Amino acid sequence: MLKFNYKYAFEDAELKRYESKALEAFDTLTKKTGAGNDFLGWLRHPEMYDKDEFERIKKAALKIQKESEVLVVVGIGGSYLGAKAVIEALSDYFPLNKRTEIVFAGNTLSSTYMVELLKYLENKDFSVNVISKSGTTTEPAVAFRLLKELLIKKYGNEYVSRIYATTDKTKGALRVQANELRYESFIVPDDIGGRYSWFTAVGLLPIACAGVDIDKLMAGSLKAMNDCYVKDFSKNLALQYGASRNLLYNKEKEIEILVTYEPKLAYISEWWKQLFGESEGKDGKGIFPASLVYSTDLHSMGQFVQDGKRIMFETVLKIKEPKKDLLLKKEVSDLDGLNYLDSKPLSFVNDNAMMGTIFAHKDGNVPNLLIELDRIDEENIGYLLYFMMFSCGITCYMQGVNPFNQPGVESYKKNMFALLGKPGYEELAKKLNK
Ligand code: PA5
Repeated sequence: MLKFNYKYAFEDAELKRYESKALEAFDTLTKKTGAGNDFLGWLRHPEMYDKDEFERIKKAALKIQKESEVLVVVGIGGSYLGAKAVIEALSDYFPLNKRTEIVFAGNTLSSTYMVELLKYLENKDFSVNVISKSGTTTEPAVAFRLLKELLIKKYGNEYVSRIYATTDKTKGALRVQANELRYESFIVPDDIGGRYSWFTAVGLLPIACAGVDIDKLMAGSLKAMNDCYVKDFSKNLALQYGASRNLLYNKEKEIEILVTYEPKLAYISEWWKQLFGESEGKDGKGIFPASLVYSTDLHSMGQFVQDGKRIMFETVLKIKEPKKDLLLKKEVSDLDGLNYLDSKPLSFVNDNAMMGTIFAHKDGNVPNLLIELDRIDEENIGYLLYFMMFSCGITCYMQGVNPFNQPGVESYKKNMFALLGKPGYEELAKKLNK
């Protein structure tokens, strides 16, 4: 299902030197002895998930599909990126069949975005899935309040049946609201943090509404879990990827660019950036995760990657079989000079652009790691996301950082609350205004 290749980055012997440290990190992660070990519910989630809630998610998705043209998913960070990534990866670029459209809100404070969204929804039947583990995050709370106002205006007392809340079992303002107003609700498990939660109700309800087969998605993540639990460095590719990142970091490669040649994977990269960025970027350490879509970005950032400051490596996400393909044909006049590609599939051109770029960047001292998936489908995407989370845990423990907290995110919040005039922040407000 997934292959990992480091031959365009370094020699076998170099990686071998990281084996024992990677195996130590494997024990720390799987025996749950490291920092943040109360957030390891995701590790065995593919087999331990709540099957009753899973069925309830499928039922709710059918109801939403039946009665809504649009589902608005309200959430930020880990509370929306997984759903957005999986839905984009598994949807057609130009869908021919009408289905419930999934749109996102609460991940920005842009007033223009909100005004245009409310206008767009005015004459459409819609439902809202509000997602917040803490139940207190400002961005989604503000968006939800505005959307609720429109729901009440359109549907009167019936509005409640169009709200689905995904939040903590007992704590937080959203839980209080869900209980009091009787929204249908789903649970974010206590021991699963936001960026590791795509395969709980957080991601699964919007993903199922988009028509994705969530059974197959879970099956893919279960397969990855079984492969990741093999304590053998020569076989465990998640260990090898985690160790490779450390090796390259120690060679002063401080930026990792996740590269895809399939634009619909761009949000998989966004999800991946949050996963690694929030997990690893702390205590003055960490690889800065970036992403590019080739060949589009070869005509912009390609110059920097080939020739700019030598501080990065690339991880190329290669897809073995494209979902769709077509053949190029000969033209009588050959004015564009492309007849040499006669009878070649377009994917052949894309694949060779990829190999040409890997060779060029390697020559330009940008090591390339390769992750190859068989195809883009539910099983492969489920596999990939679990694989990435496991590798992330390994890489962080190898660097001695806690992969499961995000203390840095709090700093902006305190200042924002003080500047907005939230009660309790008066002293800080005085300081900032001065
Ligand atoms: O990964 C994380 O923990 C964060 O990105 C959160 O998902 C994000 O801050 C949203 O938090 P919440 O779901 O509590 O609203």
